[in-house]
Amino acid sequence: MRIILYTGKGGVGKTSLAAATAVRCADLGHKTIVLSTDVAHSLSDSLDRDLSGGEPKRIEDNLWAQETDTTHAMKVHWDTIRGWISSLLAWRGIDEIIADEMAILPGMDELANLLYITDYYESGEYDVIMVDCAPTGETLRLLSLPDILRWWMEKVFPIGRAAVGVLRPVVKPLLGMPMPGEEVFDAERRLFDQIARMHSILSDPHESTVRLVVNAEKMVIKDARRTFTYLNLYGYFTDLVVCNRLIPDSVEDSYFAAWKRNQVKYLEAIEQSFNPIPVMTAPLFDEEVLGIDRLRRMGQTVFGEKDPAEIFYHGHVQTIAESDGTYVLSIVLPFIQKSEISLLRKGDELVVQVGSWRRNITLPRTLVDMSIQGAKFDNDKLKISFIKPAVK
Ligand SMILES: Nc1ncnc2c1ncn2[C@@H]1O[C@H](COP(=O)(O)OP(=O)(O)OP(=O)(O)O)[C@@H](O)[C@H]1O
Ligand SMILES: [Mg+2]
Repeated sequence: MRIILYTGKGGVGKTSLAAATAVRCADLGHKTIVLSTDVAHSLSDSLDRDLSGGEPKRIEDNLWAQETDTTHAMKVHWDTIRGWISSLLAWRGIDEIIADEMAILPGMDELANLLYITDYYESGEYDVIMVDCAPTGETLRLLSLPDILRWWMEKVFPIGRAAVGVLRPVVKPLLGMPMPGEEVFDAERRLFDQIARMHSILSDPHESTVRLVVNAEKMVIKDARRTFTYLNLYGYFTDLVVCNRLIPDSVEDSYFAAWKRNQVKYLEAIEQSFNPIPVMTAPLFDEEVLGIDRLRRMGQTVFGEKDPAEIFYHGHVQTIAESDGTYVLSIVLPFIQKSEISLLRKGDELVVQVGSWRRNITLPRTLVDMSIQGAKFDNDKLKISFIKPAVK
């Protein structure tokens, strides 16, 4: 089975590319479903098909699409726990309506959508699961959620199941504090199990990869680098970058001359930022990419003869490992000689320069306050050590 997640900054073309890739996969004979975790669904507009009802709808041979029903998914996965949290908050004097709202963790609705992936994965019904994700900020929050949720749950569920059994007869009548019942613990365990399964499926490099959609524009690239850093950090694999909306050579109008020049420059920056991950391109078409035919044209233009279900890059380009307070950032630079490299830091950005080639890396928050202790080149990898500055 193959799971492909499309993400990128708002409006770059994620939905179009996820749908176009799905159409291409289906044409090549893979039984494919495309679904979105974005609560603001737009798949039905992209495919120009009615997807209401929340169930997968058959679009063509081998192709299904689904706009998940968030309310239903939330009910299934979160309702019991939410009920208890909300009564706990109400007990602490928080207005009931507000307590109800606060009991929904930010991101839970998208998470509930993402949990559909485990269902499809485990049912083995499809060859390819194509996921149209929300814009990067949301997606990152979502993909980091398994870790965050564990922490959060430990804070919210400080009292274990056994302790509750002992405490309930005392605490409830004395303080009136609502204690979580068995059903809350069961719901919590089920949710945790499913999140853990989802995490292991999505971080399996033989099946799941993320694809970053970018446009050849400064701010979009910056956002993509940041996302890439965090995807690597959370253990997700990126196998492809798609640069969308390049103005074709056939456009010769002088009005677009500066746009075209900048796009060439930015495309080069994109290739250097993610190398050796391949970058594929999609032109700015002469009209919106709506409906199956135009999506098919987009899929063919991007992938040509290639099968989009292929994994285009294996492994991590960037990794961070910690030992004894030293953090080592390793970057795969397969074509580079040690002597040529220079490093420059600008805030949360690290610039690796090799001749005229340069890669900008966004440092994760943990490394921003640390100093570089040294760097060495080893086995096609540049390894940069970071340490916490000594306290004076
Ligand atoms: N290469 C292209 N040529 C022409 N139009 C395009 C191209 N790519 C995307 N579009 C159009 O741009 C609009 C936005 O695209 P899309 O919905 O795929 O972006 P998105 O990244 O999913 O946006 P959001 O962040 O809102 O989910 C759509 O109308 C789509 O048809
Ligand atoms: Mg979209």
